[in-house]
Amino acid sequence: MPQYVLKVNGDEHVIDAPNDMPLLYVLRDRLGITGPKYGCGVGICGACTSHVGNSVARPCIVRIDSVGAQEVTTIEGLATGDVLHPVQQAWIDEDVAQCGFCQPGQIMTAVALLAQIANPTDADIDAAMSENVCRCGTYVRIRAAIKRAAA
Ligand code: FES
Repeated sequence: MPQYVLKVNGDEHVIDAPNDMPLLYVLRDRLGITGPKYGCGVGICGACTSHVGNSVARPCIVRIDSVGAQEVTTIEGLATGDVLHPVQQAWIDEDVAQCGFCQPGQIMTAVALLAQIANPTDADIDAAMSENVCRCGTYVRIRAAIKRAAA
């Protein structure tokens, strides 16, 4: 079986896995990194959203053999020690989460948005977040949290 060296949230892991194993399975089942959630499994819902290199990615449709040397960042990698990332703190301050299942993916998309656009407009936020689905309908609070983090 092929062997891969994956850098995830600053740590290196050596993984034996078939070439086509989805990165999400590696994260959750091999490494115990369960922030990225399994929702649809086909790249549509956004529950698994993480970062691969400098890009937002959907690990459920990213094969392990496509990751290479790019660093993988999940929600577990955002905080610095006990200090939450400003977007995580804004999510708490705005009481965004309801059931919470989609929120790690929402936050990872929001972090990527703010890295590109420091002060996004409502339209920027809606465009960036439109492919992260929330069954609880927390979209208004998500928008408020992104604005709070940007301030
Ligand atoms: Fe990956 Fe839905 S589980 S996008």
